[in-house]
Amino acid sequence: MSVSVLVGSQWGDEGKGKIVDILSENYDIVTRYQGGANAGHTVEIGDKKYILHLIPSGILRENVICVIGNGVVIDPTALLDEIALLEKNNIKVDGRLFISHNAHLIMPYHKLLDSISESGENKIGTTGRGIGPCYIDKYARKGIKIVDLLNRKVLEEKIRENIKEKNILLKKIYDHEELDVEEIIRQYLEFDKTIDKYIKDVPFYLNNAIDEGKSILLEGAQGALLDVDHGTYPYVTSSSPTSGGACTGTGIPPTRIDSVIGIVKAYTTRVGLGPFPTELTDEEGEKLRKVGAEYGATTGRPRRCGWFDAFLVRYSAMINGINTCAVTKLDVLGSFDKIKVCIGYEKNGKKIKSFPTDVERLSTVTPVYETLPGWNKDISNCLSYSELPTETKDYLSFISKQAGITFNIISVGPKRKQTFYAD
Ligand code: IMP
Ligand code: MG
Repeated sequence: MSVSVLVGSQWGDEGKGKIVDILSENYDIVTRYQGGANAGHTVEIGDKKYILHLIPSGILRENVICVIGNGVVIDPTALLDEIALLEKNNIKVDGRLFISHNAHLIMPYHKLLDSISESGENKIGTTGRGIGPCYIDKYARKGIKIVDLLNRKVLEEKIRENIKEKNILLKKIYDHEELDVEEIIRQYLEFDKTIDKYIKDVPFYLNNAIDEGKSILLEGAQGALLDVDHGTYPYVTSSSPTSGGACTGTGIPPTRIDSVIGIVKAYTTRVGLGPFPTELTDEEGEKLRKVGAEYGATTGRPRRCGWFDAFLVRYSAMINGINTCAVTKLDVLGSFDKIKVCIGYEKNGKKIKSFPTDVERLSTVTPVYETLPGWNKDISNCLSYSELPTETKDYLSFISKQAGITFNIISVGPKRKQTFYAD
């Protein structure tokens, strides 16, 4: 397939980084289309572990070109730190990374406003990376874009204008000290020198690449249930991780997208606040967290853990149009005698027809479970589908049937070799 979108199909942290790394062997270009440094995409190669926040995970394959689309919000500090870290590990970035001139910049006041609003009453449990406030300014048509870095006069004017307004907000509403405008201008004019060489007209570049027969993998961050439109609002991120976001976030039209690859974890996790019907708050949840090392790759926060929710994934498959799917962290379930799978929700004893994204409704549903026998074996050394225990194969076929998806890729550990294709 020449142009594919890869989407997280639950609440993020499905293992997208690892699967992008595996798949990017077969793609010429990998492009991020939304989110920012709130993402944490972990890739393990040999004894090295990389956590990428902004740069597409394809950067770890030397023949792949990486692109950051207009839908992404870019924190220049995070970007430059990431470039420096890669270069320190002898991974060439220059000439392999391009950034859309239309992507918006995260400014210091975005991070500050994120943390101030999270210290108030209406918490979301954000990553504190300034994501929400940056998208607010984008949609309020006040944002500062990458292209503005190319014109020092415009950049300075825009920063002054924005900070004037933010300082009123900080002082009058939040009783916070004002920002030092000169320092921020100096800092951002500095970025101009380093970031210039990466800036590209991304829609033009990507559409030309498709014309030339190049293949493109569009890498989503977060997950479908964190989508600002289709997720569990307001406990969502401020962008569109669903496959539709790949078009608006890059300038590749829907007619040029060939397939959608969903990534699902063999159970469910969520970081931050918001309803989670299959959450386990007992020892079993604790065990999933421990065995699965379920701690945020960006913030280190413990992730909430629970059973696989097939009803949720069925909804996700519908809104994303998933054609093929990868299941990750299947090995983590290897020490459970019995494994539960949620096959639907009930409310007041009545079956619910479609997945409720409304948080009031979602927090009062009762999950309906089917219990399956565990395999009680370490499967992390399995190198093919045929090596999997019968109970594992039965589990896979049960969840895929209930969720209405087909698994093509199976992952049983963080390493490249712990991945194989389904029969
Ligand atoms: P924000 O994206 O930092 O504004 O956070 C909003 C919500 O999305 C919070 O619940 C975060 O925990 C969650 N979130 C943001 N990025 C990720 C991610 O990469 N993985 C999982 N959850 C995330
Ligand atoms: Mg993550």
